[in-house]
Amino acid sequence: MDPAVGALLEWYGREARDLPWRRTTDPYAILVSEVMLQQTQVARVVPRFEAWLEQWPDEAALAAAPLDEVLRAWVGLGYNRRAVRLREACAVVAREGWPGTAAGLRALPGVGPYTAAAVASFAFGQDVPAVDTNARRVEERLGRGTLDALLPAGDGPTFNQAVMELGATVCRARVVACDGCPVAAWCASAGRVVVAPRAPAGTRERFEDSDRWARGRVVAALAAGEGLPPELSGERLARALAGLERDGLVVRAGGAVQLAR
Ligand code: ADE
Repeated sequence: MDPAVGALLEWYGREARDLPWRRTTDPYAILVSEVMLQQTQVARVVPRFEAWLEQWPDEAALAAAPLDEVLRAWVGLGYNRRAVRLREACAVVAREGWPGTAAGLRALPGVGPYTAAAVASFAFGQDVPAVDTNARRVEERLGRGTLDALLPAGDGPTFNQAVMELGATVCRARVVACDGCPVAAWCASAGRVVVAPRAPAGTRERFEDSDRWARGRVVAALAAGEGLPPELSGERLARALAGLERDGLVVRAGGAVQLAR
């Protein structure tokens, strides 16, 4: 085994955070966790993940749930379309069973290459690299070739979790802690990581001004039974509603707007 990989696995064995999706190999639970983690921080996902699994313990339960209930449970977790796709994926799996390979998983609605690899690895124990943004950053900084080539046979799932843990807690995008890094001795960038500056505040679009925020706000207000949010109107509201309707998240019945069921 590459010595850097040995050091990484040893570090992970000591330092790994105890996260609920690390205590299971249930593909449904792994898929739910990965979709939630795509846009939301770990600390915020943990309680939402646990509540979700209580409400819908398996793919058949989620597939049978009314869409408006699913959207209500997703409020605050980001892109609502991901919840729609997650439920669609569960409908396919409830009918046909779990695909056993990353390529098969990739064919499920909303499942991209990273998520497919994560499920194949963490649920099915396969030795495939699961490379998300954090893992890609670690790979690039480390400068020892691809994670694929470094992945230790038989330890793929632990290796993937360890790389992610390193990217989340040590080798972070903007705050780098090479002093505490288990692989610094083998790293091409140790002690000299250059972090790209953020765009100055005035030049960044405020999230509250974005269409994505407006769509999320509409879904949250409808989910809470509040009707349409009063702070949105005119062209902005029309654009949000058109997008949500096109994506099947809301329906217009007569003059009223509702979450789709
Ligand atoms: N981010 C994405 N997937 C993750 C996982 N399995 N553990 C921790 N953070 C993650």
